[in-house]
Amino acid sequence: MTTELVLLKLGGSLITDKETPYTPRLEKLHELAHEIASALAQMPNLHLVLGHGSGSFGHAAARLYRTREGLSPTPTGDERRFYWKGFAEVWYRAWQLNRFVMDALYQAGLPAIALAPISAVTSREVRVWRWDLGPLRAALDAGLVPVVYGDVIFDEERGGTILSTEDLFAYLARHLRPRRILLAGLEAGVWEDFPARTRLVRRITLDAYRAGAVRAQASAWVDVTGGMAAKLELMFALIGEMPNLTAHIFSAEESGNLLRALRREEVGTELAAL
Ligand code: IPE
Repeated sequence: MTTELVLLKLGGSLITDKETPYTPRLEKLHELAHEIASALAQMPNLHLVLGHGSGSFGHAAARLYRTREGLSPTPTGDERRFYWKGFAEVWYRAWQLNRFVMDALYQAGLPAIALAPISAVTSREVRVWRWDLGPLRAALDAGLVPVVYGDVIFDEERGGTILSTEDLFAYLARHLRPRRILLAGLEAGVWEDFPARTRLVRRITLDAYRAGAVRAQASAWVDVTGGMAAKLELMFALIGEMPNLTAHIFSAEESGNLLRALRREEVGTELAAL
């Protein structure tokens, strides 16, 4: 029986209330957790690494304290204190949202284990530099669902930074070689005509992307980790290295869409080598 490994992200905009800081969308989270549980029950060969964003938990503080940018090269004492105070604030918010996610997964009966990125990852210039994947691999081998999330990270060049779920997935993809990455958010996919949103792009190939055929839409709200343009760039860099990999950007706002995506039905925009 061949197993299929999928990296699935639940975007911050999907699982938090954008209008009200620090508010999880609990019903949505429960619905998503149940769809994941159904998919795993229906597809015994499916192995998942789950990731989630930060939404209205992490991004506002991250912007205020410039956490992703890191410390300036020669910080004053005050700058240092300000930076690390913000780092702890963003850590707290990311962790707080993770608790809500883990509660929802637990209540849906999923054997999920959170692996806090800050405890395992160090970065260099905002890229994963070291990450001991032993525990994550052991969790997968045990049939558990390891969960990671966008988090503050100690960075060897900048002191600190933030790595998004996609940044973490990029490293995981290179080491675990999944066939699919699913990025679930609020946006139905990549639009030909953003912000009018009348023509969804069903499929983007690496050549079309490289030829500049797609102009990524801006994020609808404050996003310190780059929004849609950064997603496309990262995913196509991976697809360039691993032509068997496909990535899907889709909305999980409509009930059942996440399950459909996990079942390989057509949803959103597919990014592929050919
Ligand atoms: C952001 O992670 C992490 C923090 C701001 C702490 P992501 O980039 O994965 O999150 P979303 O999906 O944009 O909210």
